[in-house]
Amino acid sequence: MQAIILAGGYGTRLAPLTYTKAKPMLPLLNKPMISYLIEALPNGVEVIVAANYKNEQLQEYFDENGINAMVVKEEKPLGTAGAVKNAEKYIDGAFLVLNSDIISSLNMRKFIQYHMKKKAFVTISLWPVKNVEEYGVVDLQPDGRIMRFVEKPPRHEAPSNLINAGAYCMEAEVLDYIPPKKFVSMEMEVFPKIIDDGKPFYGYTFDGYWIDVGRHSSYIEATRVLLKKKGLKYFAGKSEIKGKLRESTIGDRCIIHEGVMLNSCIIYDGCVIEKNVRMENCIVADNCIIEENARLKNVVVGEGEKIGKNAVIEDEKIWNKPLPVGYPRKQIGNPVRR
Ligand code: GTP
Repeated sequence: MQAIILAGGYGTRLAPLTYTKAKPMLPLLNKPMISYLIEALPNGVEVIVAANYKNEQLQEYFDENGINAMVVKEEKPLGTAGAVKNAEKYIDGAFLVLNSDIISSLNMRKFIQYHMKKKAFVTISLWPVKNVEEYGVVDLQPDGRIMRFVEKPPRHEAPSNLINAGAYCMEAEVLDYIPPKKFVSMEMEVFPKIIDDGKPFYGYTFDGYWIDVGRHSSYIEATRVLLKKKGLKYFAGKSEIKGKLRESTIGDRCIIHEGVMLNSCIIYDGCVIEKNVRMENCIVADNCIIEENARLKNVVVGEGEKIGKNAVIEDEKIWNKPLPVGYPRKQIGNPVRR
């Protein structure tokens, strides 16, 4: 069986972090996000990573860490279904499709077993949410069959509180529903067509946790959940730490000076946080300097930036260099999970 990991989005909502790193390479407890998905796969499942933007970073990471994964490149983004079609020649039967930006407790083995038991054409993972009006929710029969998707329904009209959780198990014939070499969305185009054709389309719910690491706030939330799961107050690589850390992670080669207080922060490699800096809900990319006494709240600092002494900044993204060539000015990804 193959697992196609969708890893080709630009991750515009996570800019400026994604100006310099592919979204699946953003670190969670100092490990690229995509590694959590790969580790969750049952033995024997072949990993195919569908990527375009900064795909060389993924290849390099797999090579350096002896991870057996094949990167299949797209010339340009083909969307969540187009990317799967692009990898068609490597698929030899039922297969998995996984969004690379989901951190969850989904048990892949049970998920696959459920798909087989139901003799489903497609099975998608489902997760309950409170704010149904922001998502596409499913109309689910008691036997687990999905009859339709309802886009952003008012709460009282929602057929359920279950949303597409970004992991799919599919029969190979699904590939016949996807035209080649075109931008095609799995959620908006392929799934509705399959349901209309009356094919057995099932939903699989699970317990535990599910986080769509699409935004800065959910990225920080994912870090918090993983720290809690490991029973850690903070997590640090090989760094010099003299300040106080709460629910935060620190990469390698950082210096966190005396009097610093970090609360729910993610600090990448090679950063210097000078004396008496206070930060809350912040993400600081590689090789940044935050000078003495700065106060930062809900701030995302792009790679190689410097924040001056005594700065007070709230709700900002810091990036003072030109945009990377070809990076989209607005979101082009999958509008289902906004
Ligand atoms: P935003 O720009 O912030 O919306 O992020 P995104 O581009 O990653 O889009 P979104 O979060 O909707 O994507 C869901 C998943 O599909 C992510 O794992 C993306 O990497 C992946 N993805 C989205 N579009 C493409 C694509 O065109 N090709 C491939 N290979 N993967 C894609």
